[in-house]
Amino acid sequence: MLSKVATRQFSKSASTAYKVAVLGAGGGIGQPLSLLMKLNPKVTDLALYDIKGAPGVGADVSHVPTNSTVKGYNPDAIDQALKGSDVVIIPAGVPRKPGMTRDDLFNTNASIVRDLAKAAAEHCPKAAILIISNPVNSTVPIVAEVFKNAGVYDPKKLFGVTTLDVLRASRFISEVEGTNPVDEKVTVVGGHSGITIVPLISQTKHKNMAKDKRDALIHRIQFGGDEVVKAKDGAGSATLSMAQAGARMAGSVLNGLAGEHDVIEPTFVDSPLFKSEGVEFFSSKVTLGPQGVAKIHDLGELADYEEEMVKTAKETLIKNIQKGQDFVKQNP
Ligand SMILES: NC(=O)c1ccc[n+]([C@@H]2O[C@H](COP(=O)([O-])OP(=O)(O)OC[C@H]3O[C@@H](n4cnc5c(N)ncnc54)[C@H](O)[C@@H]3O)[C@@H](O)[C@H]2O)c1
Ligand SMILES: *[C@@H]1O[C@H](CO)[C@@H](O)[C@H](O)[C@H]1NC(C)=O
Ligand SMILES: *[C@@H]1O[C@H](CO)[C@@H](O)[C@H](O)[C@H]1NC(C)=O
Ligand SMILES: *[C@@H]1O[C@H](CO)[C@@H](O)[C@H](O)[C@H]1NC(C)=O
Repeated sequence: MLSKVATRQFSKSASTAYKVAVLGAGGGIGQPLSLLMKLNPKVTDLALYDIKGAPGVGADVSHVPTNSTVKGYNPDAIDQALKGSDVVIIPAGVPRKPGMTRDDLFNTNASIVRDLAKAAAEHCPKAAILIISNPVNSTVPIVAEVFKNAGVYDPKKLFGVTTLDVLRASRFISEVEGTNPVDEKVTVVGGHSGITIVPLISQTKHKNMAKDKRDALIHRIQFGGDEVVKAKDGAGSATLSMAQAGARMAGSVLNGLAGEHDVIEPTFVDSPLFKSEGVEFFSSKVTLGPQGVAKIHDLGELADYEEEMVKTAKETLIKNIQKGQDFVKQNP
């Protein structure tokens, strides 16, 4: 990533300062994500916030000798953490505890994201907001509702981070094809969990892959998170690969803000693609620019089996999005 930045021609970044805030910086994702943001040369001011542990992570990361300031904020200082932020990344959450129902589990992260969104709407309403906290398919609509209620919603500035699905797709397709994952670009559309994740294999150079192999690959991309959960054996889900994915997405958003050209990432956004069918948010390739979303690309040509998968994803997403919107209505 660094070499790519270094070889880019002129960019406004040389003369522009960017403040990035990480909310949930003390967590499994938040800590390595904070480190990776410290390594991004566009970041001049890194604000780390958590309900516990952020000053420690801040002091630790601040010793990395890149030309940016880092500060960890205590729980009572979210206003200072957010003030002036250009990009806010949210990997906050509370893991499942014994006795929690599915609804409890949903409501916990939903409340956290709602409250952090309220703070962002108040203290940095123009920032790009990147949501990592799960379930992304519902937490992104939650943030949108909060920003709408505050009268500051800009659909060009809200992103559900689906980049881990994209990274896994590159990695896993390279494993079955015996190629270098760096050369494998796979567009992933739809949503960000299970069957809503639709990797468009027909648009890769491996479109003629045998059906059995392809089905297994798609399943692995959709449920790759389970491999990590199982291997960690009770100690959580993907954190390091997720941090890399979050840092890549945030880096691309910063590149867009800085006016670089052809910055494209698949991401879950407020999308016109299927709005007439009731799907308000959808992930597809998005060109990033100085205002956030510059262009939402359509899905391009799909194979028949992909059309089917997209149809299923849309049906599921309508319910997930509604669930997020209802949550804010019932728990403003
Ligand atoms: N988008 C993706 O692809 C993807 C992948 C993996 C995990 N996730 C999600 O990312 C989130 C974080 O995962 P993790 O493994 O880092 O969890 P974690 O429990 O290790 O860390 C969460 C952090 O959030 C903090 N937190 C809780 N409430 C907060 C609040 N109100 N304000 C600020 N911080 C708060 C906690 O103190 C903790 O440090 C989860 O929701 C997880 O499901 C998303
Ligand atoms: C390093 O940071 C300082 C303070 O933000 C800034 O004035 C200076 O121009 C930066 N140096 C480089 C080489 O970017
Ligand atoms: C909420 O976040 C925690 C991490 O803090 C994660 O383990 C859990 O799976 C998330 N809940 C949901 C419903 O995704
Ligand atoms: C999406 O989000 C909902 C919460 O609204 C969750 O229960 C569901 O399992 C997620 N994934 C799918 C594929 O629906």
